[in-house]
Amino acid sequence: MIYKEKKVLLRNGKTVVLKSPSEDDWKAMTDYIRCVASETPYILRAPEECNDTEESEKAFIRRYNESELECMIAVFDGETVVGNCNLNVKNRKKVRHRAELGIGLCKSHYRLGIGTTLITELSIIARNEGCTQFELQYVDGNYRAKGLYEKCGFVEVGRMPNGVRFDDGTYADDVNMRKIL
Ligand SMILES: CC(C)(COP(=O)(O)OP(=O)(O)OC[C@H]1O[C@@H](n2cnc3c(N)ncnc32)[C@H](O)[C@@H]1OP(=O)(O)O)[C@@H](O)C(=O)NCCC(=O)NCCS
Repeated sequence: MIYKEKKVLLRNGKTVVLKSPSEDDWKAMTDYIRCVASETPYILRAPEECNDTEESEKAFIRRYNESELECMIAVFDGETVVGNCNLNVKNRKKVRHRAELGIGLCKSHYRLGIGTTLITELSIIARNEGCTQFELQYVDGNYRAKGLYEKCGFVEVGRMPNGVRFDDGTYADDVNMRKIL
């Protein structure tokens, strides 16, 4: 699914562009994922797992752009990708009313309202796809994500105890949230 490009004015007066990345953006996308993975422990991918190749990243982008049930929106600050989110609508008939989202930003762009804007845009797409509920997971302790999701109307519906194990051997719950669309 292709998201129609949109310019967004941020709280700091700067502008970013939201758009579906094209295959030509593969390098900017891999730089971005390395940035997020090195800056936060709260995404599932560890920095040492950021080893996408040109071929695999292009295939990943193509999959989203050609899919009828999946959409990816990248946040461009000039040529640099500073954020990304994706929407995955479930495929089977009995669960076709459910969509899941994932989101991440580079630290340089936290707290400027981008997370809120991305969730608003994804909610519109999910509703247009006929979905009636939106779902996500975050790692317990990620107070930024919790704050964003609660502000956007998500409510905790359960948790997987010890869903995540960090390098130092400590665990955190995986928290499930839901929002009615
Ligand atoms: C979580 C994340 C996407 C939030 O995005 P963001 O663009 O900073 O969020 P917004 O600026 O739209 O803020 C939305 C709300 O979240 C809450 N929030 C965000 N940061 C917060 C903080 N440091 N402390 C308390 N509340 C916070 C606030 O309620 C805020 O609304 P307000 O600014 O109007 O008060 C971003 O911090 C991020 O990418 N983190 C690293 C990756 C990650 O954790 N992804 C989520 C995995 S589940």
